[in-house]
Order: sequence, then structure tokens, then C-alpha cells
Amino acid sequence: MTSTSTNPRILTGDTPTSTGLHLGHYVGSLENRLALQDVYDCYFLIANVHAFTTLAEKPDDIRANTLGIVKDWLAVGLDPARSTFVLQSEIPAIAELTFLFAMLIPFNKVMRNPTLKTEIDSKGLGDTYPFGFPMYAVGQCADILAFRPQLVPVGEDQEAHIEMCRDVALKFNQLYCGVGNRVVADEHEKAGGVFPIPKGKVGRVGRLVGTDGKQKMSKSLGNAIFLYDDAKAVQKKINGIVTGRASMTDPIDPNHVLLQYCDVFIGAKDASRAQQIRDDYASGKEVKDGLIKAELGEAINALIAPMRERRAKYETAAGEAMVLDVIRDGIKRANKTAEETLTLAKKAMKLDFVTRVIG
Ligand code: TRP
Repeated sequence: MTSTSTNPRILTGDTPTSTGLHLGHYVGSLENRLALQDVYDCYFLIANVHAFTTLAEKPDDIRANTLGIVKDWLAVGLDPARSTFVLQSEIPAIAELTFLFAMLIPFNKVMRNPTLKTEIDSKGLGDTYPFGFPMYAVGQCADILAFRPQLVPVGEDQEAHIEMCRDVALKFNQLYCGVGNRVVADEHEKAGGVFPIPKGKVGRVGRLVGTDGKQKMSKSLGNAIFLYDDAKAVQKKINGIVTGRASMTDPIDPNHVLLQYCDVFIGAKDASRAQQIRDDYASGKEVKDGLIKAELGEAINALIAPMRERRAKYETAAGEAMVLDVIRDGIKRANKTAEETLTLAKKAMKLDFVTRVIG
């Protein structure tokens, strides 16, 4: 309960579509969040309602994944004393704002959203996805704006959503708060807008490629290294990376996933060692993939081992009770902020007929 409301705010979140978070989440966003926790009033959202867009027949999975994400957050070091964990399904203001914002976004613009299009392709949703699937992009605007943050730390794939969110906030402020068309985004709040116009902030690695070396790391593509993978599993996945070299003196494509990972996971601690590996591969010197993979596996394990240990604490019955406490406390604090926002928004829209209190 120490979150200081005078600090600028951030909001970001994860969708519980998988059993846990992976390295792509870590370098794309979680690492960023850890640093931002010290400076910002942070809201971290579990988009459990959005999980139903693709997993509507699997409520048990969504529930387990939801708890799994909170455990991962705690294991990584997100701190519920300083930051507010937001369970989307218990924040009614988000659902209400979603409906209201849906009036401000042209239907065709939602349907042309490139992030949605990519997801439809990569998840093989065809043309049978539910109405709620494109709707989630509108919902994400509400997730964000309900907390009136300045900053939204996300992976590169989310930038189209942030753009839409900015459009909605601009339009709302102009339509209902008398903010002039010429007022620049950064001045909107000062000019009387209910919403600051939030900015996206992409992490150190906007898009981490999966162990297949082809697509973005993702649970559904089977190319992910999870934060809860044990040391052996991590090494096995790294060993499975294919370099396709005919001999140990063959060079390797500078963009190869093995080199990308060396940059990201070895280079984070020792930039010159990562460069050395690149140089060795380029030089025609004899380099054994196996040794590089062992070194890389070790670096990744060194990063995630402490997380794995902390996570184990939450796998017990007592640990799970702690997780539920964290969720309960977060909901309370999140509703306080989100209800404030909704009150301001409804007033601006001339919907302030009564005062209500949600506890
Ligand atoms: N769509 C995001 C993802 O799948 C999760 C998310 C939901 C989110 N609401 C958000 C991220 C609001 C940032 C802000 O990764």
C-alpha cells in the first residue's frame, strides 16, 4: 500500500493464454517493469477476460494460467507492495469504458489493426473467431485508459494497440472535454482532458525470436523457453537450436538466433564476450556450437534460476493463498483508481446522474 500516487503512472499487462511467461516476455517487458517500479506508480494487469477470446471453452486453463502469471510476476520481482496487480475481470470500470470507447473507434479501423491480423494468421483463427476477438483491441484501450497512465511498456507487437488507445484518448478529450484540435498530445491533460495521451515503451528486445529461429517466441508455436523451465529443459531447448553448419569453421549468419540469444543473454552482463563470440564465428576460426550453447544455457539459467526458486514457494497451498491475497488487495486498489476515472469520464459525457461506490 506504499504506492505513491504522486509518481507518474504506468500500466501494462499480460494475457493468461499460457501456463507461464517466457524469455520473450522477460526481455520485452518484465525487465523494463522491474526498473520502472522504482520510479512509477505501476499497474500490472492480468487480461483474463481477453483470454476468453481464444480459450472460451477452457475456463479451467484460464484460471490456472491467471494464477500462473501472478506467480511469475512475484518470482521475477514485481512487488505488490509497491505496484498494483489488476485482475481485469473484477474491474467493472474497464468493461464499461470498453463499451463507451467502442463508439469512438471506426469499425473498419479495428478490423484493419495489424496486430489483430497477425494474431489471426499466427494462431490460425481463420474467419471463425468470435466478435469478442477484435473487440479486445477496444478493451485494451479501456485497460490502459482506466488508469490514466503516461507510459505503457510493451513488446513491439503491441504498438498498433497503443496507437489506437492514443486515438481514443485524443478523440474523447476533444469531444467531451473541450480540448482543441490543435492541442498537442502531451498537453491534453493540462488543457482539461480526462485522459493523458499515453506513450508506448518497447523493452530492450522488442521481439525475441523463438528457438526455431523463425517466429516470435510464443507458447503456441512451441519455440519458447519458459521462466519456470528447469535447468535441464533450458539447456535441451538451446541445444536444439540448429546452426546447420557443415564444419566447425563455417561462419554463421550474423542474424542467427544463436547469436541473437548470445547478445541478449550473455551480452547483458558481458558485452565484449558476446562480441567475441560473433567475431569468432565470422573469422573462420574453429568454433564448437556445443560449447557456445553450453555457455548460453548457463547464462540463461543464471538469469532464471532465482526466479524458479522464488516461484516454487508459490506452488504450495500456503503460497497459493498468498497469491490470492495479492490478487484481492490489487483488485481493491485498482478499483479505486478505475472508478475515479470512470466518474470523470461519465461526467464529461453527461452521464453523471448518480454517484456510485464499488468497493
Ligand atoms: N494484449 C497484451 C498481450 O497479449 C496484454 C494486454 C491486455 C495489455 N491489456 C493490456 C498490455 C494493456 C498493455 C496494456 O500481450
